[in-house]
Amino acid sequence: MAVRKIVMRGDELLKKKSKTVTVFDEKLSELLDDMRETMYKYDGMGLAAPQVGVLKRVVIMDVNDMFFELINPVIVSAEGEDVEQEGCLSCGKIREYVKRPFKVKVKAQDRFGYNIEVTGEKWLARCLCHEIDHLDGILFLDRVEQQKS
Ligand code: NI
Repeated sequence: MAVRKIVMRGDELLKKKSKTVTVFDEKLSELLDDMRETMYKYDGMGLAAPQVGVLKRVVIMDVNDMFFELINPVIVSAEGEDVEQEGCLSCGKIREYVKRPFKVKVKAQDRFGYNIEVTGEKWLARCLCHEIDHLDGILFLDRVEQQKS
């Protein structure tokens, strides 16, 4: 395992759309293990592959002491509304209030390609939305801008 360098805001790579994962191999496992080490090293709640320079639909999260690895995650339902302060490992110390759904259901795959489903409320829902946004080139600060206008 290795700590990877985090891509910071301003880098065009963070605005790109990530590609669907079709091969569940050793290289994917290595990416996931490295992302885990990187997230814990920088004390993050979540990390998306583009944040370590890899444009693949891969995210990891640690919310409420539960660890998640999600490949090709898709939000299949969302309900309610919640506003909390968010940050991001790619955005330094910036914290802003962001409106997100209170509850989301996400379908994804695990590192072996098996289907999984995660339903989360409050911070888990927020983290799922934040990380999945990264896969579409969207930062939480973009959401803040949208919600101001
Ligand atoms: Ni982030």
